[in-house]
Amino acid sequence: MANGEALAKRLCASCHSFNQGGRTGVGPNLYGIVGAPHGHVEGFNYSAAIKGKQGPWNYEELNEWLHKPSTYAPGTRMAFAGISNTQQRADVIAYLKSISPNAPAP
Ligand code: HEC
Repeated sequence: MANGEALAKRLCASCHSFNQGGRTGVGPNLYGIVGAPHGHVEGFNYSAAIKGKQGPWNYEELNEWLHKPSTYAPGTRMAFAGISNTQQRADVIAYLKSISPNAPAP
């Protein structure tokens, strides 16, 4: 978890905030993202690629997304290459779960 938090701060914080009610930057705030619908921040200008996805973000989808955003959601505006290391992805997702009160059990 500590590792995932450090990774998220390093890799994602330039575009995303993680605190409850945190600011919208280049990307949407990520508080509560696990179990939340795709495009969960009201008023954020999401791409059609994300808006077109149905259902809540689950662990499998976050894993695919963070592995390679452009493969999971072709046309996404998230300009991030992805995390190829499986352990690092798991750590970041564990961190996202820790800031998601409504996350389902893994
Ligand atoms: C260069 C800026 C940038 C970086 C770096 C970045 N993101 Fe994003 N992220 C975005 C943008 C922009 C979107 C909206 C994408 C869209 O609408 O296609 C987004 C969307 C998301 C979403 C979907 C949110 C929702 O409400 O559905 C998640 C989850 C996410 N990012 C996680 C991450 C994580 C975790 C990292 C770090 C490993 C990361 N992002 C790194 C810019 C970024």
